[in-house]
Amino acid sequence: MTIALSKGRILKDTLPLLKAAGIELTEDPGQSRKLIIPTTHPDVNLLIVRASDVPTYVEYGAADVGVAGKDVLLEHGSTELYEPLDLNIARCKLMTAGKVGVPEPEGRIKVATKFVNVAKQYYASIGRQADVIKLYGSMELAPLVGLADIIIDVVDTGNTLRANGLEPRDLIRTISSRLVVNKASMKVKHDAVSRLIDQMSRAVQETC
Ligand code: ADP
Ligand code: PRP
Ligand code: MG
Repeated sequence: MTIALSKGRILKDTLPLLKAAGIELTEDPGQSRKLIIPTTHPDVNLLIVRASDVPTYVEYGAADVGVAGKDVLLEHGSTELYEPLDLNIARCKLMTAGKVGVPEPEGRIKVATKFVNVAKQYYASIGRQADVIKLYGSMELAPLVGLADIIIDVVDTGNTLRANGLEPRDLIRTISSRLVVNKASMKVKHDAVSRLIDQMSRAVQETC
């Protein structure tokens, strides 16, 4: 079984859940440049991928299982993935934000975000005309330099918004990371995958 994970907060928060399922890494991905990390379980390897690429690896079956933020899953928009378990990790909120004290313009609004599909759906759902500008990071900069009126990004403590003179506006949805499973793997590797889901699910409940 192959599990796709991203480095950083998802890896850090998923390791204890994998450990509860009897899976431990044999190398520290933070130190190693390797992208395929063997585990103490002879049949389980970890793939280290970009957070936004996890759904792609799992959808195409290059990984059987993965962990991805609900924000990433909404943006990816696949109906081809099973999402059997909310891991309750990497919790944050997907929000709009704008410059402190600057009202949003009437009429068309310029929105900068890496979540372009989510942004288009959101503004369509509230009946607002929006020009959506794709960025890959540092979204908070966009309103400061006149690239956009509004950004859409994940917010946790709000520190990044505050540090850049921005304020949170509308909550689009609360976010946590999910276990995702390839549809064919769910059938072909049913025993191994359902054991993993059960053991991780128990570990999630114990940490709640
Ligand atoms: P990326 O390199 O794509 O920014 P991250 O590791 O920062 O990946 O984020 C992975 C996931 O963790 C995101 O998809 C989101 O669900 C969640 N997340 C992002 N930023 C935060 C944050 N500041 N606090 C909590 N969760 C976050
Ligand atoms: C994320 C997100 C915000 C910040 C929000 O960035 O893109 O910038 O966290 O968290 P806060 O409300 O607690 O400040 P991240 O730390 O993942 O950095 P990145 O630019 O490398 O994605
Ligand atoms: Mg990030």
